[in-house]
Amino acid sequence: MFSERIERLTGSLIREIPAAAQRPEVISFAGGLPAPQCLPELDFSGVPQALAQYGTTEGEPELRELIAEQARAIGVPCSANQVLILSGSQQAIDLTAKLFIDPGTPVVTEGPTYLATMQAYGLFGADITAVPQENGELNPASLAAAFERVKPRLTYLIPSFQNPSGACYSAATRQALAEVIDAAGVPVLEDDPYRELSYDGVAPAPLVSHLKSAPWIYSGSFSKTLAPGLRVGYLIASPDLYPYLVKLKQAMDLHTNRIGQWFMAKWLKSPDYPQHLTNLRATYKVGRDAMQAALEKHFADLADWQMPKGGLFFWLTLKKPQDTREVLKRALEQNVAFMPGEPFYPDPNAGIGHLRLNFSHTAPERIDEGIARLAALIRG
Ligand SMILES: Cc1ncc(COP(=O)(O)O)c(C=O)c1O
Repeated sequence: MFSERIERLTGSLIREIPAAAQRPEVISFAGGLPAPQCLPELDFSGVPQALAQYGTTEGEPELRELIAEQARAIGVPCSANQVLILSGSQQAIDLTAKLFIDPGTPVVTEGPTYLATMQAYGLFGADITAVPQENGELNPASLAAAFERVKPRLTYLIPSFQNPSGACYSAATRQALAEVIDAAGVPVLEDDPYRELSYDGVAPAPLVSHLKSAPWIYSGSFSKTLAPGLRVGYLIASPDLYPYLVKLKQAMDLHTNRIGQWFMAKWLKSPDYPQHLTNLRATYKVGRDAMQAALEKHFADLADWQMPKGGLFFWLTLKKPQDTREVLKRALEQNVAFMPGEPFYPDPNAGIGHLRLNFSHTAPERIDEGIARLAALIRG
């Protein structure tokens, strides 16, 4: 009855666990949601009536200009003509799947990597090779070796405050990774939704800013900084890829919601936006520090981790590995939720014994209690 790819369709744990964790008595470290008090007022007064009409696939011109300007400021060489507004940056993942992946196509990612990317690429039959991160970096020699071995058609990387590991690569690593990518001529998707959420200094310039010849796509989001419910994100692509991505989007949804685009442009132009970002960083830093303190208190003998300098997650490696999918079942009975680490690897059984813990959504004063409950469960 269905296409052959439906046999590869998997559910996303990420979307299933928060449903189980929504009971108010549950302390949830599971999702990657903004804190409710950080969401903006939804003031749509003054929306031009003309926006009721169909728009262009590429997106609203003013928003494209504003995004290009911001991207140039962080080192991405581009004009507004290379910006495609998306229905969430997740759409960049889907579009690149359609552009590059047939059954069996080799793709190289970091290990661990974003679960929903494996879901989307897996649906099209990608054969994903994950290069392990080492001490919060991705070793350029390891990436080069993986390229040599599997000859990928695409590489997908999250160099800034990665989901799930929180890793943020140094400028030198980005430069070296870009050299590897250029030398192999492998197209890269750099997924960068967490860049603005930095708590100890800003993230280095995007990896794509170091490229000289490889085709590239850079994707960004307003979901972590403003309002995920509006579903507005974007990609910026090198001129050789851009026209294909526009046509693929056209076939998918014609264009992104114009009212959401109007709202985002209004925010980007607003003098309140820099202050909003400052407040957001200050709020999440309190959560990050509360979680670090709670982990030092309860997890010092149970796990290893690096305090993330940005993003929304701690990534724990258990000293005595156990299947955290099993721990989750018991945790939910104790009214605490987290994301098991195994599903963030193409081969979950190769990633036994990691936990991803979100610190933005639970009030800081409840973090210690939740971490204490988790530690007790893991201690057994
Ligand atoms: C690495 C990564 N990429 C993309 C997305 C999708 O974000 P958006 O809401 O912009 O579709 C997420 C959301 O959690 C993410 O963590």
